[in-house]
Amino acid sequence: MADYTQIWTEKYRPNILSEMINQKPIVERLSAFVKAGSIPHMLFAGPPGVGKTTAALCLTKEFFGDNWKQNYLETNASDERGIDVVRNKIKDFARTQPLGGAFKIIFLDEADALTKDAQQALRRTMEKYSKTCRFILSCNYPSKIIEPIQSRTVVFRFRSFENKDIAELVTKIAKGEKLELDKEALDGLVEMAEGDARAAVNLIQSSAAQNSKLNRTKIYEAAARARPEEVKTILDTAIKGNFQESRKMTQDLIVNKGVSADLFLKELHRKILVAELNNKRKAELLNALAEFEFRILEGANEFIQLDALLARISVMGDD
Ligand SMILES: Nc1ncnc2c1ncn2[C@@H]1O[C@H](COP(=O)(O)OP(=O)(O)OP(=O)(O)O)[C@@H](O)[C@H]1O
Ligand SMILES: [Mg+2]
Repeated sequence: MADYTQIWTEKYRPNILSEMINQKPIVERLSAFVKAGSIPHMLFAGPPGVGKTTAALCLTKEFFGDNWKQNYLETNASDERGIDVVRNKIKDFARTQPLGGAFKIIFLDEADALTKDAQQALRRTMEKYSKTCRFILSCNYPSKIIEPIQSRTVVFRFRSFENKDIAELVTKIAKGEKLELDKEALDGLVEMAEGDARAAVNLIQSSAAQNSKLNRTKIYEAAARARPEEVKTILDTAIKGNFQESRKMTQDLIVNKGVSADLFLKELHRKILVAELNNKRKAELLNALAEFEFRILEGANEFIQLDALLARISVMGDD
């Protein structure tokens, strides 16, 4: 029986740097800091769910051992109560002596959400406490961080997970939770995670909620996503002129499986792009898709719009 008492993103979060999948060059450099006993201010940049927080935690745990909690502050730079709240938290934390080391570590998430003025304030705070604290700033877009902060930090660019890395991660979890995960289900997880390790772990946990045997259908249902092959069938059916049948399949996806019209249209888009049709017909299909997607976005009734889209496609023909 799989474990549902814990959130798997926490349960399977690596505790030491060497356990981290992906990000090898970063892991090597961070390990070197631990060995040398000295850590610079750092900027961790990269997409969501690829190990920025994890790397900061691993580094801290390895650096301080059992005392790590007293020496680590994690806070969100974009705390909605403002940069002053953040600076006060830092001040309180920095006031006490580090335990068993020369400094403490402050991890500031979402640094790129700060305004330029707030970043200037943050920079002054960093300078004020840099004797006793090392800052690790985390952000999605390093270009949004002001130059004076960038130049005071060592910048690490975290990468999206490659498919094989996501596969390695979910295979490990499947083993740990004694789940049966066949190749097609694994491919589905990889497809949907799109390089985000957190998304992959959350998805495998929610897919396993009812049953430890995972197949492709269950994975897509848990994500409330349409399987690409289903959407291709719907497209092919409509192109052949069979409006009613394509409508029935679409309704099943939206009504029974809870797929949003938006995600359905995104998948349809991918399928039109790779369909074996001449360019003129493809252009017509894409135009129709764009028109109905826009209407739905503007708030029109999605059932009526999807019907109209499929009807339009089915009268176009397939030549
Ligand atoms: N390199 C990794 N190796 C193994 N698991 C990972 C790795 N990176 C992320 N994960 C998994 O994904 C979860 C989320 O990762 P983490 O919190 O480090 O992401 P993040 O980069 O800080 O994302 P965000 O930008 O959203 O804060 C972790 O709890 C862990 O389960
Ligand atoms: Mg994070």
